[in-house]
Amino acid sequence: AEPLRIALAGLGTVGVGVIRLIETNRDMIAARAGRPIEITAVTARERGKDRGVDLSPYAWVDDMHAMAERADVDVVVELVGGSDGPALTLARAAFDAGKGLVTANKAMVAHHGLELAEAAAIHNSPFAFEAAVAGGIPVLKGLREGTAANALTRIYGILNGTCNYVLSEMEQTGADFDEMLAAAQDKGYAEADPAFDIEGVDAAHKLAILAAIGFGTRIDFENVRTEGITEVRASDIAQADSLGYVIRLVGIASLVSEGDDCRLLQRVRPCLVPFRHPLAAVTGPTNAVVAEGDFSGRLLFQGAGAGDKPTASAVVADLIDIARGQSGAPFSVPTTSLVTYPPADPGNRVGRDY
Ligand code: HSE
Repeated sequence: AEPLRIALAGLGTVGVGVIRLIETNRDMIAARAGRPIEITAVTARERGKDRGVDLSPYAWVDDMHAMAERADVDVVVELVGGSDGPALTLARAAFDAGKGLVTANKAMVAHHGLELAEAAAIHNSPFAFEAAVAGGIPVLKGLREGTAANALTRIYGILNGTCNYVLSEMEQTGADFDEMLAAAQDKGYAEADPAFDIEGVDAAHKLAILAAIGFGTRIDFENVRTEGITEVRASDIAQADSLGYVIRLVGIASLVSEGDDCRLLQRVRPCLVPFRHPLAAVTGPTNAVVAEGDFSGRLLFQGAGAGDKPTASAVVADLIDIARGQSGAPFSVPTTSLVTYPPADPGNRVGRDY
């Protein structure tokens, strides 16, 4: 069978993970996908750097955007990051050239997901971003497919591995915030700019994507009220503990009826979580998402939310779907007519121009 040919843009933690995964499980992936998945071209900001993987089998492309136009590429895998800039230009170029796009870029999807989904639909191109939310947990698939028959009322959870690692390590070892953040960076969990993690913005990106898919609404990142963990002190954690709680950074999206309106409430903030709640047991760079459906009841999705291997696992799962011809529309048709909450008010927006 014809291989599915991939261009890989971005050779950081996740990009290298994708190369390793495709090499390690090559035969199994080909068997499951019904055809081989082959990387044909790669690119990154720096060419010469030693990344611990052999890049010689792949064509090196200097002009990232030219890779979308190559005849030997069916799908572009964008792992460059950033909501705008090169990642967005590449994504648009991929759809203009009639190629598919797989990305782990939650910032780009949160800001431009709808525009990109429309561009993909024009050419009937696959557009998939399972790796953008909760690393290796197939939660977008779970919500899109598994809970398709349910009216969901609430989706909430731990969506940032870095923050969860910092908070749970502080709680268990009494370690210091800065030291644990540096450790999370060392382990490859944090964003290139860790302010996105600790200020809650990364979790807000993911929450907006989850809400759009779970509730069938338009993605609305602007109206996620966001507060990070930068103000959490060791003494807060100790106080919480003495009262029977842990502190977790939790994203919550819920539908709230107000008269004839149905409002979408989206928030990210440090929460007190009682010891007996399943989220209290979530430690380290783990993510956990709870979805409440009217027929399914409460579902818990849990697993590694950050790191090279779990994120690569989600990227390659999307590629296998595409190879099988089973990649569906990224967002469902809006099923809920919503007034966003809070009403558009600059004062309620995320305070920085991310
Ligand atoms: N910086 C992110 C996190 C990576 O810590 O969760 C995964 O999206």
